Amino acid sequence: MSGNPFHIQQIKLTNYKNYGFKVIDFAEKLNFIVGNNGIGKTNLLDAIYYSCLTKSYLSSSDLMVPNFTDSFFRIETIFCLNNDNQLLEIKYLKQEKKEVFVNKAKIEKQAAFIGKFPCVIITPDDNQLILGVSELRRKFMDATLCQFSAEYMSSLIVYNKILTQRNALLKSFYENRTFDKNLLDVYNEKLISAGKLIFEYRKTFLAKFIPIFKSIYKQIFDGTEEISIIYDSDLLTKDFEQLIAESQEQDRSAQRTTKGTHLDDLIFELNNFPVKKIGSQGQQKTFLLSLKLAQYELLKSEKQMKPLLLLDDIFDKLDANRIAKIFQLINSDHFGQVFITDTDEITINALITDNQITNYKIINLGSI
Ligand SMILES: Nc1ncnc2c1ncn2[C@@H]1O[C@H](COP(=O)(O)OP(=O)(O)OP(=O)(O)O)[C@@H](O)[C@H]1O
Ligand SMILES: [Mg+2]
Repeated sequence: MSGNPFHIQQIKLTNYKNYGFKVIDFAEKLNFIVGNNGIGKTNLLDAIYYSCLTKSYLSSSDLMVPNFTDSFFRIETIFCLNNDNQLLEIKYLKQEKKEVFVNKAKIEKQAAFIGKFPCVIITPDDNQLILGVSELRRKFMDATLCQFSAEYMSSLIVYNKILTQRNALLKSFYENRTFDKNLLDVYNEKLISAGKLIFEYRKTFLAKFIPIFKSIYKQIFDGTEEISIIYDSDLLTKDFEQLIAESQEQDRSAQRTTKGTHLDDLIFELNNFPVKKIGSQGQQKTFLLSLKLAQYELLKSEKQMKPLLLLDDIFDKLDANRIAKIFQLINSDHFGQVFITDTDEITINALITDNQITNYKIINLGSI
């Protein structure tokens, strides 16, 4: 027993992706999930993520989540929080609203729930955070901020809703050759107030996040390169009111909102050049792991608890030194419950022996 105050005891999956029905019990500290390609290791981590944030990390729509042969899925997860067991149930039926229950009580507002069970996930696809479109970097900020602020999450929901409505309005003005300034102002006002709040939260978040990120990159991974993260937002140059007023004509002809926090980005640099252009694969991976571990640190300090850490196939492309370092880290008291996937049980067993790991469980999906 490690006495880990926050952990998952058990997960029960019904029709979650490739799972028909499966019950899995976890160890409080380290869980190694092994099995052949396609057996469902990543899907299991995704189901854990789903339990924490009530959405899939890997599937953008819930439509993709139920088993191909069925139209519903269910997740039942027993969380243990300070010796108190809490049963989380998520029920989804195609065409119906998803339902979330904690100890049988229905959760009506998502914002009130998110952050109760904090978690950080690292998957092979995450290199898109560096290589891909800006939406992914906004999602990274949002995934962190939503976990520690219900106010942020509510503002984000309002902002996205108003943005969709405002864009539809601009489109209808254009198509019908009409314009109603008063009506547009109603949307502007709501967009501006939610956008300003989002901007302030992101700015404050980055002021704390960037120094943590830099110290992890240098101290944990011995990175010697000059690294930086720069916040790129329209709102850094002018007030949102002014931006909206000045871009009115442009918005009307583009039929969408051309300025705002929905276009924010993060610029990642290595020795003053974009990481995606000049970083080697190993450097990019180190950059990424530092981003995620900094996310972990910040969540941990904001929530005053150790988030779950989900590591999907992270050892690929890392040298033996870095792998050993990660093992020492996750085995230390600094982290709470950790879930690690790998195809090879023999490699995992060797790493467990080499690093003198004692409090763990190997979950072989091929044999249970
Ligand atoms: N909605 C779904 N219904 C049924 N099967 C699905 C669904 N979504 C994904 N799958 C299947 O689940 C299987 C397991 O996928 P998963 O990514 O979890 O495997 P894995 O064990 O992580 O494999 P790898 O070692 O290659 O990473 C895949 O064959 C995938 O096609
Ligand atoms: Mg996988």
